[in-house]
Formats: sequence, C-alpha cells, structure tokens
Amino acid sequence: MLLLLAVALTGSGLAARGADAHHKPFVRPLPIPKVVTGRRIRIPIRAAGVPILPGSRTQMTTFDGSFPGPTIRVPSGSPVKVEFVNQLKALPANVLSIHNHGGHNPAADDGQPDDFLIAPGASRVYTYPLREGGKPERASFQWYHDHRMDGTAEHIWNGLAGMFILDDRVDQALPLPKGRFDVPLLIADRSFTAQNQLTDPYPFGGPAGMQPPPNDGVQGDHILINGAPQPVFKVEARRYRLRLLNASNFRSYDLSTQSLAMKQIATDSGLMSAPVKRASVRLGPAERAEVIVDFSGKQGRQFDLKASFLDDRMTAGPHDAASPRLMRFNVVKRKSPDRSSVPARLRPAPALSPPPTITRQWRMTSGVTDASHRFSGWAINGKGFNPDRVDARVPLGKTERWRFTNATGRPHAMHVHGADFKVLDGPNKGQLKDTVLLPTPGASATVAIKFTDHAGKFVLHCHMLDHEDNGMMAAFEVVNGPGDKGAAP
Ligand code: C2O
Ligand code: CU
Ligand code: CU
Repeated sequence: MLLLLAVALTGSGLAARGADAHHKPFVRPLPIPKVVTGRRIRIPIRAAGVPILPGSRTQMTTFDGSFPGPTIRVPSGSPVKVEFVNQLKALPANVLSIHNHGGHNPAADDGQPDDFLIAPGASRVYTYPLREGGKPERASFQWYHDHRMDGTAEHIWNGLAGMFILDDRVDQALPLPKGRFDVPLLIADRSFTAQNQLTDPYPFGGPAGMQPPPNDGVQGDHILINGAPQPVFKVEARRYRLRLLNASNFRSYDLSTQSLAMKQIATDSGLMSAPVKRASVRLGPAERAEVIVDFSGKQGRQFDLKASFLDDRMTAGPHDAASPRLMRFNVVKRKSPDRSSVPARLRPAPALSPPPTITRQWRMTSGVTDASHRFSGWAINGKGFNPDRVDARVPLGKTERWRFTNATGRPHAMHVHGADFKVLDGPNKGQLKDTVLLPTPGASATVAIKFTDHAGKFVLHCHMLDHEDNGMMAAFEVVNGPGDKGAAP
C-alpha cells in the first residue's frame, strides 16, 4: 500500500507544479518515428536520452535510440527476420523478450515471457513468417514491445515499444490515403520529474501491481503522441488515414476529433468489412483502430484529438480535465488533388470454419496465494501465472468459442497470442481483433478463435501491464490432435 500511495502522491505533486512549466501545447511538430524495412532488420536495444520535454533529455531504454522505436513496415507473404540486440547493462532486470503484438508467429519467435530470453550482451533473431493458413497474413497495424515476465510494465514504461505495419496487396489496392497521408500514432502516458526524467513507479525493481487489488498500476500525467506532449501536425485539406495505437500501461481512452467525424476502417486485425462512422473511438491498452479523417474544405481551421477517460478512479495530474487535448491538426492548403476515397466495402472477415463445438471460459479474478505461497494480485480462473503450468490444450485448426468474463471490480483488456479472434457479441461484434476491453465489473466478451500453422505454447493475458506482471496471464498449448475438453470452471 505504501508504495502505491507514494506513487500517487508524487503524481499529484508534479501536477500541482503544472504541466505548463514543462511544455507549451501545440508547438512541437508531431514526430514520426523512422521506418525500417527489408527482409532482415536489426534493432539495437540501448539506453538513450530522448528529447520529450523542453530542456534535458529523458533517459530511456529504447529500440535504437528513439521513443517510440523505429516503425517496422514490411509486406506480408514471405518471412522477415528481426534481430534484437540487447546492449543494456548486465543486470538481471535487463533480460528481455520481444513480442510482435498482432503477429502470427511460431511459439519460439513469439516473445515468450520466461523462455527464449535475450540476456544483456546477447541478441536474438525472431523469424516472422508473415503467412497464415497458406496465404499472406492479412495486413494490419501491429506493434512490438518487451514481454519479460514480471518486467513488462517497467520495460515498456521505460521505452520499449514500437509500431509495426504489415502491408498486403488487398489493403494497398484500395484507394485509401497512402504515403505521408497514412500516419501511425502511438499514444502512451508518462510522468516526469522536474528534471524531465521518467518518474520511477517501480523503485524496488518489482511491479507496482504487486500490491493487492484494487490497485491497477501506473498512470502518467502527460499523454504523449509518438513520444511528444501535445504536438501539432500540419495537415493538408484532404483525407488522412490515422493509425491509432493505445500503448499505455493502464489507461483506456475515448478518442475524438471534435466536430470532424472519423470513419473507422480497421481494428487490431486489419480492414473491417465496411467502414463505420464514429463520433469517438474507444481504445483499451494494446487496442488499435484505423480511421479516415477528412480535412477537405477545412483550410485555415484547427482540430484537436481529444480524449476522455473510461476510468476516473486513479487518474492524477493535468490530464484529469474531462476531455484533454492530445494533439492539434492545423489544416493548410492542399498541394495536390486528393484522389483517395473510402470504399463502401473494404474486406470481408474470414469465415472461421469448422464452427465451434466447445466453449472455454476465462474469468478474470483477483488475489490468490498458490500452494507454494506465491501471492498474485490478479489471476485467471483463480490461478496466478505460472509459466510451467499449461491451463488449456487447444487443437490446431479447430475453431473454439472463448468467453472472457470480468469477475473483478476493475477494468481489464484481454489479449491472446498466436491468432486473431472474431468477436461474437458486444460493441465490437463481428470484428476481427486480438485484444478486447472488459471495462466494467461483470463485463464479458465471447469470441471465436482458430489457431493455424503453429503448434506450441502461447499466452493470453490482461494488457493492463501491472495486472499482467502480477499474475493475470495464462499459458495454453496449441496441439496437433484433439486437445482437452475446455471444461468450464
Ligand atoms: Cu502486447 Cu502479450 O502482448
Ligand atoms: Cu500479442
Ligand atoms: Cu487487468
């Protein structure tokens, strides 16, 4: 309790001194992380000073010196090898495991929490086949981040997150905005000391989530877009494709562009069957949405990307205003004609056949002590994460119905590795996704899921990172053959 209390006090202390001492809003141009591509990519992981606030650089743990890291952008269809080189100091806390979130990769290349680790001084080549069921993997907006057991929240807070854009012919053949009109935006909150350094919510090397529920973990008082606080983005009076990723440790957002409607064209798992007009888009941690915003006819005007928060309980700091402005779009004259459009039909979701015959229950629960007296603040089906225990054996190539239920008093965002799923009920009904938000006590979501290509061990977990680090994760094994019965606990 003391630890969490200290964090909360530090947070509001900073807020009282005022964010405006730190930066002026809508002055700094929106940074766009550099793009890396090719069939062989090498990304060093190293400590670096990153310019975030005016004045001193912020010391972070980075993918190749920047936050967010470089954007990996590759076409699907043939494999890409990404080598991550761990150049951090030789400390046990610096052992890493990098996960391509949204990818469809073999277990050994998936960024396992406690296996295939990258020690300081070592490197690991991950092979991403970028194929699925014999075809090129569907284009989607993914990301990559550290996934080390018990250390994920801290490593990501310190900077280990980057975007990953997978292209394919179907997506690229559509007349959607392309090139510099296709803009990825990574949203992540952080708090800073008066010296521009990240506050350390993990001062004793353990996750803040080690505190018993209802504590949730870390929320920053500055919400950064591509690593900048309240940047300004000069846009031409035309259509843009904005790729939105919530890479925050805990926060969920309802995002809007004020009076400009957004047309959502894609989820976590790529294009939807048809665009959906939205006044706002809700993103829990790790969720993505791609939207088309049309600035044509708006020359000389400005629009802000605004957020409101789903969770009001633990927020602290200047962003507590009901609806903070995260960035500004300044609309200028179009330099060339806008030939883009948003087709009424985008891409049908794949049929998941055969239809599911068994249902598996995954209940988010809290606070357990296991037989070996290990305490977990959070759990799934009443059990804290243990990498040596397999909680389900799931047959390769068969569709199952998975039901996630929030049996706690706090929000959760459930993510499954290895396969996208189709949501069967609730706000994202009919959409393909890889993460689903269960924002309220008792909330549930039912999905259809089919694992293809890769037998082996994978995990599912809450993407509220302190929950994940503190037990809210389960391992399952995709098997050749019948699997288990999915008995409902
Ligand atoms: Cu984005 Cu298992 O993680
Ligand atoms: Cu993932
Ligand atoms: Cu959770």
